[in-house]
Amino acid sequence: MFKALVLSKNDDVVSANIEEMDVAQLPEGDVLVSVEYSTLNYKDGLVLGGLGGLTREFPHVGGIDFAGTVEESAHADFKPGDKVVLTGWRVGEVHWGGYAQKARVKAEWLVPLPKGLSPRQAMSVGTAGFTAMLGVMALEGQGLTPGNGEVLVTGAAGGVGSVAAAILSNLGYEVAGSTGRADTHDYLRDMGVSSIIDRSELSESNKRPLEKERWAGCIDAVGGTTLARVLAQMKYGGSAAAIGLAGGNKLEHTVIPFLLRGVNLLGIDSVMCPKERRIEAWCRIAKDLPLEKLENMVSEAKLEDLPELGKQILEGQVRGRVVIDVTGS
Ligand SMILES: NC(=O)c1ccc[n+]([C@@H]2O[C@H](COP(=O)([O-])OP(=O)(O)OC[C@H]3O[C@@H](n4cnc5c(N)ncnc54)[C@H](OP(=O)(O)O)[C@@H]3O)[C@@H](O)[C@H]2O)c1
Repeated sequence: MFKALVLSKNDDVVSANIEEMDVAQLPEGDVLVSVEYSTLNYKDGLVLGGLGGLTREFPHVGGIDFAGTVEESAHADFKPGDKVVLTGWRVGEVHWGGYAQKARVKAEWLVPLPKGLSPRQAMSVGTAGFTAMLGVMALEGQGLTPGNGEVLVTGAAGGVGSVAAAILSNLGYEVAGSTGRADTHDYLRDMGVSSIIDRSELSESNKRPLEKERWAGCIDAVGGTTLARVLAQMKYGGSAAAIGLAGGNKLEHTVIPFLLRGVNLLGIDSVMCPKERRIEAWCRIAKDLPLEKLENMVSEAKLEDLPELGKQILEGQVRGRVVIDVTGS
């Protein structure tokens, strides 16, 4: 028997309760994982609140990512005792996820935990941090180096933003961060942000297709008007990695920055990202994310805290990363 946070739906209302479950109740898969840590991402907030049409079948176990130890494996790539991490593949949305002490999944969804990273550290990074790393790799793929100039991170105090800022500053970039929360400025400086921009400077629309050139690169967790303004402010040949939509999913802009400044808009998807790229990203995280900064951006919670935390992340009230110790419930 093990514990899980089970979501049920009655009269269109989704509710969450901790329940005792039997391994036989888990969905099919070739690897059984003893989950140690999961985490809280924006998408988890949507699933916990029954929003966005992400989960259609109930009862359901959420948690779009987890890390733990293989308990049983019918696949040659994994054996009992292996440490693994899982993000994406619609686990926690369509398939049962990490808000439980055990999970059964397909072997092809799992990535071996890189040396030097514990399950707790991997979930301190989580989907948000993993996607931030994919964004950094995409910018590098377009030739970005620290010598090109300042890199902007939007939604800087959130999960994607915090990890992106810490990685970029560790790699030697000059990092600017935009935030709507004045009480996060010290925290952002600690993450390596050297200039802080008030969110409102970017969230007001501007009809001009081009503004003063400023950013060599951007990791954008916000979307909407913010991304439109960022595109207008990109330096010649600069690249912006579009990761999130915390500020809106519409992008109203002209093509002028692409045509006159050779700006690149790079789409980042973590859910269906190919396995080789995942392995590369986790190895880069182990190498390029300073673990002492990681510890400063993390708070810890338990399965029973998730319904309230889910609301908070949708309201933009969560700072950094929240790890969920699923064994402690
Ligand atoms: N593409 C992918 O595969 C992928 C993977 C992971 C996440 N995402 C997306 O990336 C985004 C960030 O995820 P996360 O886990 O980092 O969430 P998060 O921790 O809630 O961070 C989002 C941040 O965006 C800022 N923000 C919130 N509401 C805003 C608004 N109305 N206008 C402007 N800024 C606002 C806030 O930063 P400040 O407090 O600093 O202003 C907030 O902390 C989400 O949209 C998520 O769905 C995408």
